[in-house]
Amino acid sequence: MATNLHRLIAKEFGEDFAWGVAMAAAQNEGAWSSYGKGPSIWDNFSRRQGKIKGGGKPTIACDFYHRYKDDLLMAKALGFSVFRFSISWPRILPEGTGKVNKEGIAFYHRVIDECLKLGLTPYVTLYHWDLPAALEKEGGWTSHLMLRWFVRYAALCAEEYGDKVKNWIVLNEPFGFTSLGYMLGKHAPGRIGLSNFLPAIHNTALAQAEGGRILRQLVKNAHIGTTFSCSEVLPYTSSPEDIQAAKRVDVLMNRLFIEPALGRGYPREDFKFLDKLELHNKSWKYTEKMHFNFDFIGIQNYFPVVVRHNALIPIVQASEVKATTRKVPHTAMGWEINPDSFYRLIKRFWLYGGVKEIIISESGACFKDELVGGVVDDQQRIDYYQQYLLALLRAKKEGVNVKGFFAWTLTDNFEWAEGYKARFGLIHVDFNTQLRTIKNSGYWFRDWLSGK
Ligand code: GAL
Repeated sequence: MATNLHRLIAKEFGEDFAWGVAMAAAQNEGAWSSYGKGPSIWDNFSRRQGKIKGGGKPTIACDFYHRYKDDLLMAKALGFSVFRFSISWPRILPEGTGKVNKEGIAFYHRVIDECLKLGLTPYVTLYHWDLPAALEKEGGWTSHLMLRWFVRYAALCAEEYGDKVKNWIVLNEPFGFTSLGYMLGKHAPGRIGLSNFLPAIHNTALAQAEGGRILRQLVKNAHIGTTFSCSEVLPYTSSPEDIQAAKRVDVLMNRLFIEPALGRGYPREDFKFLDKLELHNKSWKYTEKMHFNFDFIGIQNYFPVVVRHNALIPIVQASEVKATTRKVPHTAMGWEINPDSFYRLIKRFWLYGGVKEIIISESGACFKDELVGGVVDDQQRIDYYQQYLLALLRAKKEGVNVKGFFAWTLTDNFEWAEGYKARFGLIHVDFNTQLRTIKNSGYWFRDWLSGK
């Protein structure tokens, strides 16, 4: 199946380049209320009418809890050497703090041991959006107690798994979960408004750095990173209004969390609105506390964004001009496919002073996959990966220190508010039977990675 083009490129990334697949506890594990696990904000949110397309819930998901051995074996068989997954906070601390759930702790030991047995390097994400519901009752990310709760949780993970796991990711996409979950109400916990968003931003920026410090302190030889969702933001026209609108959106989507992590504080000078954070951060004395010297940053880019000025939209005064409206190539979620934009974004993040290493900690695409006669012919996904990998190689050759690429995702799973219809996997899952079928894109990766 592989062409000469594939062979050439795979080799050019170098022997030490890490090829991985990524997934998250709430999207894959299932076993939502078994083995001592407490409810997460996603368990509760998905029970609210109309919040998830098709009414999907993460109760069983793709049953990774019981099928992890098979899934890990498939990741290995496809040729990957890294397995990125997240720990479910409410599985190991059902109340968020307090009593430890031994069965939950043991589960991640089994997953890690299996990875190591198979020769898959585990990359563990501490927080991929499934906050314990018990903590949300106390304010969740809006509470100043969050730092204390998060430190306890991070320390528990580091102490339990730190001997076996050396690669750690503190947060998955802080802008994603604070904006969708605490400003727009589209994700769990479904809160809206600035009175939630602003404190959530600040507590998250503090937890991001503090999580790094805890891991540094407790895990010998740790390789510590955190991930950012990022999108190139382009003005729809060259009018000064559209250009300014794009700049404001860029501050929020791309700069809000990385700049505090790099020790620069919030990018207030380019969006005065952020001065409101001062209410939650008296005299900016915490700038230092939001800084941590990460070993790597995880870039997660799914689409560029085109915006135009819109005075009716509060605060950002901008609205998106969708890829479907602009009639450019896009995925089944309407996300623009644009490898050149991916290339420019990687270069841009590399140029931030203080970024030492980049890992593409997620990249992937959703298409309307169909299982016909035991085959999923997802040529569009293969095309996507080919184009994005070429763009990545270009950035690497031009000197960006990019050390890994983790495909999102191994198996189709619970895609948050999109439910089960949006499929991103290299492996198809029949959610009625849990039958797995490797898609053609999975086979493509296998050939690519083995240099066939
Ligand atoms: C990311 C998120 C993943 C996954 C992916 C595809 O933002 O971290 O959990 O859902 O998007 O939508």
